[in-house]
Amino acid sequence: MITVTDLTKRYARTTAVDHISFSVSKGQIVGFLGPNGAGKTTTMRMLTCFFPPTSGKATVAGFDVFEHPLEVKKRIGYLPEAPPLYIEMETIEYLRFVGRLKGLAGADLEKRVDYVCDRCAIADVKNKLLGKLSKGYRQRVGLAQAIIHNPDVLILDEPTAGLDPKQIIETRELIRSLAGDHTIILSTHILPEVEQTCEQVIIIDKGKLVATDSVQNLQARARGVESMLVEVAPRTGNLVTVVVQQRLAKIAGVSSVVLKEERGRGSVFEVESDQGKLVRGDLARAIVESGWDLNELRPSAMSLEEIFLELTGSDAAAAERKSDQPGEPATSKDAKPEAPEAEA
Ligand SMILES: Nc1ncnc2c1ncn2[C@@H]1O[C@H](COP(=O)(O)OP(=O)(O)OP(=O)(O)O)[C@@H](O)[C@H]1O
Ligand SMILES: [Mg+2]
Repeated sequence: MITVTDLTKRYARTTAVDHISFSVSKGQIVGFLGPNGAGKTTTMRMLTCFFPPTSGKATVAGFDVFEHPLEVKKRIGYLPEAPPLYIEMETIEYLRFVGRLKGLAGADLEKRVDYVCDRCAIADVKNKLLGKLSKGYRQRVGLAQAIIHNPDVLILDEPTAGLDPKQIIETRELIRSLAGDHTIILSTHILPEVEQTCEQVIIIDKGKLVATDSVQNLQARARGVESMLVEVAPRTGNLVTVVVQQRLAKIAGVSSVVLKEERGRGSVFEVESDQGKLVRGDLARAIVESGWDLNELRPSAMSLEEIFLELTGSDAAAAERKSDQPGEPATSKDAKPEAPEAEA
């Protein structure tokens, strides 16, 4: 549904996006991650035809963003980092306005306006001026305008930024419910959100692609070893943890056994084995045959946060590098506010 090949965007002094390539299949939800200044917003702006790439290519639903921007825009809903706002318009007026720009009219338009007001929980601010909305409500209106024309592809730049916890959950659910029919790329700094919402992850850093994979594969790849948490309990009396450690370490394929935690009911060990060596059965057998109880045996996943820091370097501040300059003079296209545009 989306293919990006060697996409590059250079500003005067900064290469904001540096030859990145990835693809997203229909119906997928993809998390777009990277430290501040990594180039996420710049990539999204190219995908939504907000400005053209310096070089490289991107297609959405088979249409080139550079050659067929109108076809692309018809199929895309975009929630920009700063939601577009016409402060003097009422919410409902604004949604009708955007809907008309996207080609909706009459009863269809009204139906969609009602639908998005309901889905984004903004019915109670329908008649409020946008300029008077709180940040969270503005964000919700931004999401509503992005989905008003029921686009195939949604590009959401930090969709949950500024929302209250309840609305964050509702927005996540809304996004999840849109998947399947819609292809979604969302950027966020909330990593558990990606684990909960997205199947695929694209990580960029300093304009370069550092990873694109499923959350699961990334976790496995980042470790290079398989890691399991094993809770062992004594059947009677006390458990001598050193003995357990020594016993488990003897199993073929096990590379390390570390005592992680002593719980009331048992002791938890982290057991690492070489990737691809399935030692779970041997572990379970060794524990039971030694006369201990096996309370729990589960893979210990590396959190996305750990992976992210490992892949992008923990010094996120360094990302807002070089470019303390205002950048290239905006082209006439760049200078436009990030607002919906007419399709035809
Ligand atoms: N109009 C511009 N002129 C010059 N440089 C720019 C411009 N817009 C962005 N940049 C630079 O391009 C790089 C990428 O910025 P971008 O906004 O795409 O990052 P981001 O990943 O969205 O960051 P954040 O997480 O902070 O939103 C940064 O170094 C930024 O300073
Ligand atoms: Mg951004």
